[in-house]
Amino acid sequence: EELLMMNSEESLDEFLQSIPKVHRWGNNDLVKLNGVGIDPKYVPNAVRALNDFKPLPNDVILASFPKTGTTWLKSLLFSITYRSFKESLANIHPHVLVPTIEVQGFEGFESSTHDSRRLYATHTPYQILGSTHDLSNCRIIYITRNPKDTLISMWHFTNKMKDADGSLPLEEAIENFCSEIIPCGPYYDHVMGFKTASLEKPEYIFFITYEELMEDTKTHVKRLAEFLGCPFDKEEEVEEVVKNCSFDILTSHEVNKSGDFTSWFPVPFSSYFRQRNIGDHKSYLDAKTIEHIDALTKEKFHGAGFMY
Ligand code: A3P
Repeated sequence: EELLMMNSEESLDEFLQSIPKVHRWGNNDLVKLNGVGIDPKYVPNAVRALNDFKPLPNDVILASFPKTGTTWLKSLLFSITYRSFKESLANIHPHVLVPTIEVQGFEGFESSTHDSRRLYATHTPYQILGSTHDLSNCRIIYITRNPKDTLISMWHFTNKMKDADGSLPLEEAIENFCSEIIPCGPYYDHVMGFKTASLEKPEYIFFITYEELMEDTKTHVKRLAEFLGCPFDKEEEVEEVVKNCSFDILTSHEVNKSGDFTSWFPVPFSSYFRQRNIGDHKSYLDAKTIEHIDALTKEKFHGAGFMY
C-alpha cells in the first residue's frame, strides 16, 4: 500500500482533511497517518522525517513505542556510544542528547562533536520506517514493555500535558488502547513489526524488553556495546554507565527534575521520569480489565516467541 505523503504545496489543513477520521486522546486530536495515531500538530514533522531524514550507514537508531523505556535507553546508548557521558547526563535531558526525529527533527545534531556516529530515536513503526528509508547498514535498537504498564505510563504522561487537568479518564485510555487508538499506535503492530524484523536481521536489529533490561542491566549494556561494535574493556566502565543512567541518579539532576515545559512536547522535563515499577498496572486495572488485555496480547503476540 502506498504511503500517504504531504506535498509541499498542500497546507496542513488540506492535508489533514484527506486523512481519515479524527479521534481524541486526552485533550488532543488524533488522526491516523498511514495507519499510525498522531496528533495533527506533529504531522508536518512526521512527514518531514519520512521524506528528508537520510540514515547513514553508521547510524544508531533507537526505536520504541512511547513509554516503554525510551528515556532510559537514550541515556544508556549515549553513554555506550560516546563514553564521556557523566557531564552530559548531569546537564542535558536524555531527550535532548538523543533527539526523536519526528518530534524534534534531525538537523543540527549531525555537526555535533559526536560526528563519528549519529544517534537518533524514533517512534515510527518498522512497517513505515523500513519502507521509506534505506536502513541497510544502520543499527536499530528496539525496546518494548509490558502493554499494561505501557498503557498506565502513557495515561499518566498524557495527564501531565499542558492544561490536561486529568482530561484523559483511565476508562477511556483503556478502551482506546484496546481499539488501537493511541498515539504512535497500534501498540501491538508496532512491537510485532520490529520483532519480526529483528528475527530476520538479528545482526542489525537488537530487540529488548524493559523488564529484561531492568532485571540485569549490566549484562544487557555489555550486549548492547558488543552489538554496536564498541565493547567495554573494563567491568568498572560498564558499572559506571549503568549507575549514571539509573533512575535514581538521573532524577537527581536539576534538568530532569525541572517542572519547566520542554520545547518539543507540551510536558515538563520531569514527566519522562515517574516511578519505573514493573507491574504498576496492578494498582490501576481491575481483574476483568487485566484479563481482557491479556487475551488481546495473547492473540496479537501469538507466535512471536515472547509473551507478557
Ligand atoms: P513509569 O511511568 O512506569 O514510571 P519513555 O522513556 O519511553 O517515555 O518511558 C517512560 C517510563 O520509563 C516511565 O515509566 C519512567 O519512569 C521510566 N524510566 C525513565 N527513566 C528510567 C530509568 N533510568 N530507569 C528505569 N526506568 C526509567
